[in-house]
Amino acid sequence: LKIAVLVSGGGTNLQAIIDSIADGRITDTEIKVVISNNPKAKALERAAKAGIEAVCISPKQYADRELFNDALLEAVNARGVDLIVLAGFMVVVPEKMIKAYRNRMINIHPSLIPSFCGTGYYGLHVHEAALKRGVKISGATVHFVDEGTDTGPIIMQKPVEVRPDDTPEVLQRRIMEQAEWQIMPKVIDLIAHDKVHVKDGRVFVEE
Ligand code: GRF
Repeated sequence: LKIAVLVSGGGTNLQAIIDSIADGRITDTEIKVVISNNPKAKALERAAKAGIEAVCISPKQYADRELFNDALLEAVNARGVDLIVLAGFMVVVPEKMIKAYRNRMINIHPSLIPSFCGTGYYGLHVHEAALKRGVKISGATVHFVDEGTDTGPIIMQKPVEVRPDDTPEVLQRRIMEQAEWQIMPKVIDLIAHDKVHVKDGRVFVEE
């Protein structure tokens, strides 16, 4: 399975994928390219250290959004990837990319969708909302990307305990360590072995 990983920040989910390929938790998979809209993203350094092509494609580099959209889609198509992985990608994904990669583009969201997701629920806002609501369980979700925000078919979820004295940062870190960095590699390996199927908007996984 050839994948492109789209990132904007720290790249800890990217690192989990890199490490999982290295230690065999993911097989038959190659990261062809890492693309970031943010030239300073630590994720780009992580890619370079792992010998993976690291590219910066930012809306700021283009006269208008449409040109950026075309450049991003072209960068992915040119590398002939089978799967696009959004790992903390903070840019609106072009509609034409969503259509071209329907059920071949996945995203990770740091809550149990449909809780605390959709417009505005990014970064620490997700965890602030969970703590404000007083939920006892949160977690992470990997889903296929469709035209909505965090609305595509859910592939895998993993629950994480919320503790009374949690701060948003502490909860975010626990969800990353205990959920995100587990289910993202697991889903990629399942897709690499054709074990993930979508039917009527719901996902069936062969174990
Ligand atoms: C993660 O919390 C992920 O759930 C969200 O953005 C963050 C990305 O972190 N989509 P990183 O860049 O993978 O460290």
